[in-house]
Amino acid sequence: MRRRVAVIGAGNVGATLAQLIVQSGLSDVVLYDIVEGMPQGKALDIMEASPLWDVSVTVRGTNELKDTAGSGVVVITAGAARKPGMSRDDLLNINARVVRTVSEGIAEHSPESIVIVVTNPMDVMAQLCRVTTGFHHRRVMGMGGVLDAARFRTFVAGELGVSPQDVDALVLGGHGDQMVPMPRYTTVRGVPVTDLLPAGKIETLIERTRNGGAEIVSLLKTGSAYYAPAASAFQMVRAVLLDEKRLLPAAVHLCGEYGVDGLYVGVPVVVGSRGVERIIELDLKEDERRYFEASVRAVEGLTERLGLTASS
Ligand code: NAI
Ligand code: 2OP
Repeated sequence: MRRRVAVIGAGNVGATLAQLIVQSGLSDVVLYDIVEGMPQGKALDIMEASPLWDVSVTVRGTNELKDTAGSGVVVITAGAARKPGMSRDDLLNINARVVRTVSEGIAEHSPESIVIVVTNPMDVMAQLCRVTTGFHHRRVMGMGGVLDAARFRTFVAGELGVSPQDVDALVLGGHGDQMVPMPRYTTVRGVPVTDLLPAGKIETLIERTRNGGAEIVSLLKTGSAYYAPAASAFQMVRAVLLDEKRLLPAAVHLCGEYGVDGLYVGVPVVVGSRGVERIIELDLKEDERRYFEASVRAVEGLTERLGLTASS
């Protein structure tokens, strides 16, 4: 049987993700949005590029959630994006309504799927999706850490004048302004970045990473980043489709790991065909733990504002 990925929301992130999946040839795609004609138009445009990419997969645009039925992977990108002056958290109530609605549809039409949540504020939206679908928590994860780490990798590579391919990085915590880039786990072909750059310079790059989303918003003015976010979501989709067992930072439901119970927070996990297959628990140093706990408190605050309890 052919694989099918449903992309919910055909805006900037969703449509770019659909393009990446089709271009990879890995899976058919169903692209869903509430705006009439728009997902159909974008899907047709992508289909017309497929002969040039030498792929045989298809993409179909739709305004009916039932057309996504039977998808193995569902990615939620539906909702509003940030405008200048807005934080990710300002999107809470607007996007909660959207995520609740589409999660009900996912539970009905793709009850066996693995769900990747992109919509902001992402950690809380992942928790809301888990609660609404009733899916096992290992089947619902959020994309944030892959993007944040990619930004950190880019900035470190730029500073050192090396290829970003050779930089590995880890970012923990919520996908918000209090995310926790981890210099101790940031390396250039195995060489710790702390051996290559002075502490003050690393701190500047960490700050730029924390503000990475806002930096793009202030340049674009009408929306937020989407090329790197879509590439990040694609890496997670591919890990599930190909059962790659990739070790990636993702927002997952913690059940006591890292001292957190019943909240979605970004930590390193192994991603494969069953979704979150393993959580990697690191021994944090005192200052790292302090930053991590502050980030967890920020996620918890939003979770409570939405009326979700930490153990939901
Ligand atoms: P966009 O505004 O370009 O697209 C959003 C799409 O969602 C629109 O086409 C809209 O019609 C659709 N939509 C709204 N309500 C819907 C519903 N009930 N059902 C189906 N579709 C619906 O926004 P963009 O740039 O694609 O961003 C999407 C979301 O992803 C935003 O919340 C943004 O903040 C978030 N985001 C998260 C990132 C992360 O790292 N977790 C990175 C980048 C964006
Ligand atoms: C980003 O980090 C807005 O969360 C989005 O670009």
